[in-house]
Amino acid sequence: MNRPKPLKADLHLHTAEDPVDRIRYTAKELISKAAKEGFDVLSITNHQHMTFSQELLSYAQQRGILLIPGMEMAIRRRHVLLLNPPQGKMCLDFSSLSKLRRPETLIIAPHPYFPSMYSLNGYLLKHLTLFDALEYCHFYSPMINFNQKALEVSEFYGFPLIGNSDAHFLSQLGTTYSLIYAEKNLESIFSAIRRNKIEVVTRPLKHLEMGSIARRFLKMKLRGKRIKPQQWPMRKLQIRRTKFEKIIFYDVFTPLRKEKG
Ligand SMILES: [Fe+2]
Repeated sequence: MNRPKPLKADLHLHTAEDPVDRIRYTAKELISKAAKEGFDVLSITNHQHMTFSQELLSYAQQRGILLIPGMEMAIRRRHVLLLNPPQGKMCLDFSSLSKLRRPETLIIAPHPYFPSMYSLNGYLLKHLTLFDALEYCHFYSPMINFNQKALEVSEFYGFPLIGNSDAHFLSQLGTTYSLIYAEKNLESIFSAIRRNKIEVVTRPLKHLEMGSIARRFLKMKLRGKRIKPQQWPMRKLQIRRTKFEKIIFYDVFTPLRKEKG
């Protein structure tokens, strides 16, 4: 029996609407480029922010793309991809992430073992049952591949591995993606991912290419948010009480300090 034609998908993408990273292309520009490259399914997963609307959904649909609502959420500073999460719910810790688990939401561990404070690293195995799939990220070369451990975990536990670009530049699109054997609807796609009906299509980056992406990424991070210094907010972000002390967290532009008492 012939297998149905798989869906070309990238479920980890950033755009200019991202409140954290300064990205040069908009969601519509990304969708247009992906349509030209034959993608069937995309999820825009900006940081702590859902870039999704009826207008964007229709824009994608007109170009043959199913757009899945998504977000890259930081939990204890570790990044987690949530596809089609319940609206308005944010998680501060992994136990609240467990409350978001439901058939119509997919939870992916992005670049889990990359050497970054934003990657899950040890948290992954500790909370493996919270996740539906592990990511195989585009950023690697024949010599340097931080995906290796994710691959080993995936093989050892029989866990689905999904290829994504985590694109911050349009040139990253298409370097690593997934072929999903599913119907073109959310339910069928999530079910196929959970049943590991996926193929990761990937190529290692050339060293020059990897160096260029790393340089551009660093430059983008150094340029920071799109707000001018005089507009830096001075408000409190959150107050977290622990058993031992009360700490006020300010945003990154104001110094951390402990509150007396
Ligand atoms: Fe990301």
